[in-house]
Amino acid sequence: MESIDIYSGDKVISRVMAEESLAGLEACLKPYAHVFAVMDRAVAVHCPAAAEIADVLNRRNVPGMLMDASECHKTMETVMEICTWLLENGADRDALVLAVGGGITTDMTGFAASIYKRGVRFAYVPTTLLAQVDAAIGGKTGVNFEKYKNILGVIRQPEFTYMCPQVLESLPRRDFLSGAAEMLKTFVIEDGGCYARAVELLSGMSEEYENGRRETSEADPWGDTVGRHTRELAELIAAAARVKAGVVSRDQFEKGERRKLNLGHTFAHAIETLAQKDGGERFKCCEDDGMPGVTHGEAVAMGMVLAARLADRYYRNDSAAITEREVARGLKNCGIRCTCPYSVQEMADIMRKDKKAEGGKVHFVLPKAIGDVEAVELSVEEAVALMA
Ligand SMILES: NC(=O)c1ccc[n+]([C@@H]2O[C@H](COP(=O)([O-])OP(=O)(O)OC[C@H]3O[C@@H](n4cnc5c(N)ncnc54)[C@H](O)[C@@H]3O)[C@@H](O)[C@H]2O)c1
Repeated sequence: MESIDIYSGDKVISRVMAEESLAGLEACLKPYAHVFAVMDRAVAVHCPAAAEIADVLNRRNVPGMLMDASECHKTMETVMEICTWLLENGADRDALVLAVGGGITTDMTGFAASIYKRGVRFAYVPTTLLAQVDAAIGGKTGVNFEKYKNILGVIRQPEFTYMCPQVLESLPRRDFLSGAAEMLKTFVIEDGGCYARAVELLSGMSEEYENGRRETSEADPWGDTVGRHTRELAELIAAAARVKAGVVSRDQFEKGERRKLNLGHTFAHAIETLAQKDGGERFKCCEDDGMPGVTHGEAVAMGMVLAARLADRYYRNDSAAITEREVARGLKNCGIRCTCPYSVQEMADIMRKDKKAEGGKVHFVLPKAIGDVEAVELSVEEAVALMA
């Protein structure tokens, strides 16, 4: 459907293939003689489209490794396991390591490939919405270490990222909506008319899902809901990828503009840390689905609402075009959880220790309007005082 290039200066350094099906994957792999695949075990088991990917890999005799994707496995130990497997399977400097999975799989495989034999090439087939609109684009790789999230890692670009909505049909609804939050975040940063379209599509899908549940008494017809909207989803995913690719092309190493992509994230990291500390106690209303009390995308959604509150207070003399209520309404209509159970005072200490804080100041990304955000440097105390 579309190839989106990522540049460093005039040079194309990575390519995002936004497709409607998996039919083009084989052609993308053709230039690479020695491919090694790392796949999330849950994708191999639960995702019907994984069989199609496996067929492509088998036709080319690609060796495959399965790994467990969870935050507690997102460690140097797992990266070492990938490196050991590459060594045992004779991967050389000309290898291409292909990651098939969500953001955890792509972050770890990209990191392993970046340090193996001082760096071999890698590529991604992201299988979550979050990875398609965010994690698998832009070259940030890494693992968690000593309770800090993504604290070890490098920025290195994949050869290509091949994405299509077909793989999303098996994704649990909460994971899908987690990615939807990141997609809406992207359109709050840069709109191009997509924010309203995305809210309309996702709200409609949520409504269909609820109606379907009532009518068929099926436990989870979510996959059908995704399947009915492949084309619209593919267009929106491509639009989000274009925004991220553009920002990364202009500021690969996050010296300026790329900070905008952190909209909601300073609050989100504090929310995730507090939820980890209290065992998700404040999220006990969540269904017992084996997932964490709050997912990354849900925390980002809560963070966006809080960023809108801060923007409202910060720009109080301008007639702020977007309000906390408007942001929350859009997210809620899509079925995304966005009510934060923690006070900003509770989050303050963690925000001060955020890995992106510099000299006690944090770049808070403030939404002025849909498609218009600004990174403003504030101390945590200033932000808390404004939001009180
Ligand atoms: N590199 C970046 O720029 C960047 C940006 C945002 C997030 N991240 C990282 O991404 C990670 C979160 O990504 P994620 O939400 O994709 O998480 P994930 O990889 O954990 O996937 C979420 C869950 O869905 C399962 N899954 C994946 N694809 C599936 C499919 N098609 N069908 C059924 N189940 C499937 C996984 O096994 C997992 O249980 C975090 O570790 C975060 O730090 C990285």
